[in-house]
Amino acid sequence: MKKLPYKTLEGYLLNIENYFKKVKKYPEIGCGSFRVVLQETSKTVIKIPIDDMGITCNLIENLMFKDYNESGILAKCDLFYFRKIPILRMEYVTHWKETGIPKNKLPKWANKIDHIQVGVNSKGKVVCFDYAHNWDVILGQKLKINLISMTF
Ligand SMILES: Nc1ncnc2c1ncn2[C@@H]1O[C@H](COP(=O)(O)OP(=O)(O)OP(=O)(O)O)[C@@H](O)[C@H]1O
Ligand SMILES: [Mg+2]
Repeated sequence: MKKLPYKTLEGYLLNIENYFKKVKKYPEIGCGSFRVVLQETSKTVIKIPIDDMGITCNLIENLMFKDYNESGILAKCDLFYFRKIPILRMEYVTHWKETGIPKNKLPKWANKIDHIQVGVNSKGKVVCFDYAHNWDVILGQKLKINLISMTF
């Protein structure tokens, strides 16, 4: 029987991560529980899943941005596929703690985002950069959206 090149999904994803790090020379700027984040350009990062949950997060964030970008509180993102894996490209944001903005000067919704994962984008806007797990906050903020009018 032909040997599979990778024994696990995690191994397959690690190989993709190494491709972007070693061949494309994108430096790592962050790592969460599900995705590793590499600097692609001065304005963009890419989020590479490290497991199945990371793949789900990428797909969900992309869908959320498409549906709720007009809320104005989501970091801009888009998806591309590399070796059949969905990779999220997102606008680079500066973490709010690095900007000197005091916590009490952040918009109200920001404190509801878990671990206040918000930053400032190139337009000076405060946006959320990790929103796959924050449906409730985003929907709440987006009261302008009539849930009944949501189309799937
Ligand atoms: N758009 C961005 N611009 C700059 N840095 C970012 C951006 N998105 C993520 N990061 C950095 O990468 C880290 C990991 O990203 P993210 O939180 O999206 O991953 P995750 O695996 O979903 O994390 P979690 O464990 O919080 O669910 C962040 O904590 C942050 O430091
Ligand atoms: Mg995170």
